[in-house]
Amino acid sequence: MSLQDFPSQLDELTAAAQQAFSSAADADAVEAARVEFLGAKSGRLKAVQKGLGAIPPADKPAAGQRFNAVKQQVEAALAAAQERLAAATTATALVGYDTTTPGTPLTLGHLHPITQTIEELKDIMGRLGFSVAEGPEVEDEWHNFEALNIPAAHPARDPLENFYLATLEASGGRKLPVVPGVEETGGLRPPLAMAERGTAPTMLLRSQTSTVQIRVMEHTPPPVRIISLGRVYRPDTADATHYPMFHQIEGLLIDRQVRMADLKSVLRLFAASYLGHDVHIRFRPSFFPFTEPSVEVDMQWGQGWMEFGGAGMVDPHVLRSVGYDPDEVSGFAFGLGVERLCARRHHVTDIREFYKNDVRFLHQF
Ligand code: PHE
Repeated sequence: MSLQDFPSQLDELTAAAQQAFSSAADADAVEAARVEFLGAKSGRLKAVQKGLGAIPPADKPAAGQRFNAVKQQVEAALAAAQERLAAATTATALVGYDTTTPGTPLTLGHLHPITQTIEELKDIMGRLGFSVAEGPEVEDEWHNFEALNIPAAHPARDPLENFYLATLEASGGRKLPVVPGVEETGGLRPPLAMAERGTAPTMLLRSQTSTVQIRVMEHTPPPVRIISLGRVYRPDTADATHYPMFHQIEGLLIDRQVRMADLKSVLRLFAASYLGHDVHIRFRPSFFPFTEPSVEVDMQWGQGWMEFGGAGMVDPHVLRSVGYDPDEVSGFAFGLGVERLCARRHHVTDIREFYKNDVRFLHQF
């Protein structure tokens, strides 16, 4: 090759390379052009570079400079093509993404319907001046039975009707778990006294929240105006209106000259506040060992009536067992099923739904 041919050959090559790179429509075309012009083995620049050998030595520096300038131009054309394609790819990606689309909302959970009901019932009774008291779910027989006027031979204490826990003897001397609140009982005949009589205290899962009436009265001089909401346990077969664990709302009011009329007024107000003013409630004469007189409280449900719990005037024996003077004070107590109240309010026909934890059901509250 002569030096005269060299510049025109390089101009042609530069033009061809720039054309190839600027018209390359995709990554494959860019790569093909790269191999054609810049390929290390048989690229066209390589061929020109090989031809440099034939240039007379005096012209070599000028030819070398010229060649390097061309090589840089071709490489710049490649870089420009790559940049153009990358920008196009980003643009395409942005076209496919609609930045005005609303985001996916986070699904937040909420409180269980029974918990919601408990909060609302506390609120209603709070407005009537009742404060909230609590007691343990693992109870001794004194608070679950004896202090409530349910003596040892009473059928309500039958092992088939209650969830008794293993006693110290039965558990071979193993220590029972410590139950908060049980040891601090300051009553007249707390479980300690039974232990002194030679029997270890028998514990059970409380079958009613009336236990809390005793716990409160043991510690508080009258007047008393409390409610207590919590779980109770009975070995009942689960059906539409029963469950072996359910919740009760217990109410207790002790003061001078409390009458049955006060009980009825409070329960009517309570039912109207929670279920609506058109709700009908009725009281049926009944019997509980710890109230006299006693009633069962029914609420209208469709064409019929549903029992919601029991109530009555606190029996003088109970007042005496906690150190109150029945000639000075009287009071009323009631205990109603929370699941049934919630079911009646929301037209749920089977309380087992509350414990299946099917989110499709729970979602509706
Ligand atoms: N404790 C009773 C029950 O569980 C209900 C009740 C409470 C009745 C208070 C009278 C007074 O059936």
